[in-house]
Parts: sequence; C-alpha cells; structure tokens
Amino acid sequence: MEECKKRIVLTGFMGVGKSTVARHLSYITKNKKIDLDDFIEQKEKRRIPEIIETDGLDIFRQVETKRLKQILAETDASVISLGGGAWTTAENREIIKSCKCVSVWLESTFDHCWRNIRFSKRTRPLVKNKKSAKKLFEERKNHYCLADWHFVINPGHNSFEVAKQIAQEIFLAEIN
Ligand code: S3P
Repeated sequence: MEECKKRIVLTGFMGVGKSTVARHLSYITKNKKIDLDDFIEQKEKRRIPEIIETDGLDIFRQVETKRLKQILAETDASVISLGGGAWTTAENREIIKSCKCVSVWLESTFDHCWRNIRFSKRTRPLVKNKKSAKKLFEERKNHYCLADWHFVINPGHNSFEVAKQIAQEIFLAEIN
C-alpha cells in the first residue's frame, strides 16, 4: 500500500478497539502509530488511573491536550489512537483538524464496548458501573459524530478486516 501523507486519528468509546485497529492499520499501511494514552503514561511516568484519581479529571484533560499537541508537533506517527474522552474536548478537535488529520469514529453498540471493558485487565476510572457507562456512551455520540469518517464495527468483527477497510477507503481516498 502507498505510504500515507496524512495522519489518521481514531476515536470512539472505551472498549471499541481503537488501539487494536490502530496497530493493524499501522502494520497494513506501514506507518508509525502512537496511542495517546500510552504516550501520556510514558511522558508523565504515571498510569492514567493514577493521574485521574490523584489530580482529577480536569487536570487529566489538560495533560491529554498538551500531549496530543506534542504528538502532532514532535512525532511522525501517522496513525494516532485517542483515549475515548480526548475527542470530546473541543480544543482537541480543533488541534486535530488544524493539523490536517483525518478523524475516524469507530462506532459499535454499547453491549460490544461493555463486554470488552468488563473482560479487559485495564482500569478505567470513568467506568463506575454499567448504568453510568451507558449514560456516558449516549452523551459521547454527539461528539464522536463530528469526526470526518464513521466506521461501524459489527459484533463478531475482525479488527484486522476493519483496519484493512479503513486503509483502503480512507488512506486511498485521502491520498488521491
Ligand atoms: C477515557 C478513556 C480511556 C482513558 C481515560 C479516559 C474516557 O481510554 O483515556 O481513562 O474519558 O473515555 P480508552 O478509550 O482507551 O479506554
């Protein structure tokens, strides 16, 4: 596949599979990838749950914006996966747009995300219980739908196939 000239940013609710799709996308397109949450943890030398629980969500969001800017300014990664809340900050959306990134919303059902959240080993401080997670899921849709592209991930999907589809439809469309 032709090397991409633009950057692609993956967003979507927790548990939808952004990091996995990003990994495949990076492999398929031979472009470097960065996961914003991993980058934050590496730079801040703390885990995300610790930052949120100790410093609070507002500070975490500020750190998220600072590190997103840093990724875009200082790295050559073309595939960027965001944490589920990063796209909900208007400033982040502006930064992403101004850097000519193509934003992609990976959408799935709440049940699909919830299953992944429950079976994941990761601690997600924003998920207190199923009811509050569902509420957040519904609220977030209003933000996610502002992304340039929208990919629906069906239950039983194969994330490699999803990445292949994104690579074909978006990278080729954006390159040409
Ligand atoms: C968050 C999602 C998490 C992480 C943090 C906040 C959110 O990332 O950034 O816990 O606000 O939805 P994942 O979407 O990778 O779980």
